Amino acid sequence: MIAAFDIPVHKVEHSKLRDIVLENLPFGKYFTDHMLEADYVDGEWKSVSIKPYQPLELEPSLAALHYGQAIFEGIKAYKDQDGNAVIFRPYDNFRRFNTSALRMNMPEVPEEIFIEGMRKLIALDKNWIPAIKDHSLYIRPFMFSTDHMLGVRPSQTYKFLIILSPTGPYYAKPMKILVEEHYTRAAPGGVGFSKNAGNYGGSMLATTEAQKIGYDQVLWTDAFEHKWLQEVGMMNVFFVINGKVFTPSLEEGTILAGVTRDSVITVLREKGLEVEERRINIDELMEAYGKGQLQEAFGTGTAAVIAPIKELRYKDFIMEFDINKFPVATAVKEQLAAIREGRETDVHQWMFKV
Ligand code: COI
Repeated sequence: MIAAFDIPVHKVEHSKLRDIVLENLPFGKYFTDHMLEADYVDGEWKSVSIKPYQPLELEPSLAALHYGQAIFEGIKAYKDQDGNAVIFRPYDNFRRFNTSALRMNMPEVPEEIFIEGMRKLIALDKNWIPAIKDHSLYIRPFMFSTDHMLGVRPSQTYKFLIILSPTGPYYAKPMKILVEEHYTRAAPGGVGFSKNAGNYGGSMLATTEAQKIGYDQVLWTDAFEHKWLQEVGMMNVFFVINGKVFTPSLEEGTILAGVTRDSVITVLREKGLEVEERRINIDELMEAYGKGQLQEAFGTGTAAVIAPIKELRYKDFIMEFDINKFPVATAVKEQLAAIREGRETDVHQWMFKV
């Protein structure tokens, strides 16, 4: 078993930090000085190390490039109000990562590498954590198959890495969303609940087409009727109808079990709001809008945290929202920020001290 102190560290000679100002950062463009790398060979994880962030040397026959065994996670580290580095719910992402691994027929990554490796990597690069509103250090653990082999079968070898990116807000402004009626993101029995690279690649054409007609993202619907709501863009979706909160349920396996989704549900219930996880149909949403009962719509995810929707279009029908009147989204966003910054007691022990 690997303990954190067993992970060797090769430090950079000169930090790149002096070349970058940690404010107004675009999402995921800059990377810190170091990364973690581990290789799965002969049925076990070997050669785990933390080293300078650097290119990888890969064979053109690399299995992941051909058959897509590739999964990832998104996690955030912050500075609390005392200046300590803290990570938001890393164990939840750790468990989800291994759920994705199982679905994609890949080996699990043990806690000693995923959590302890991440902790050690962030301790080393903690000066890269921006201490500005809506900024964070985005943590990207990922794994891909590395066999040099064109036969279609699960790879025997894999690489696991963690890279870190100091980052600003994902969406700078409220979103305009088009309800998707042609393309499908996920169907029951598929891979929609896993965070595999193909789910994101497969979503891009629909998004590009929506952007051509002035929308930012699509609201994914089910594969059969294109009526039942799934996710918005790369996020879970929430609606407030008559003061009650609704979000699509997870049991069909078509939706990612968002860590932010779970945090939002928990915080809202603690605030005394009723939150229902169930199947939600676009017709029901339109009817509520028509009666003046659909009050808020927003996406939740690690990258964006809470992303308000200002317009939702279904066929030729447009639902508009005044995002200045989003008390539910605003309250939950503020509560999560207060927990992260240590202004509010962390009753669920979501913040992991580095
Ligand atoms: C997240 O919210 O973490 C996401 O999944 C989006 C990411 C792919 C940028």
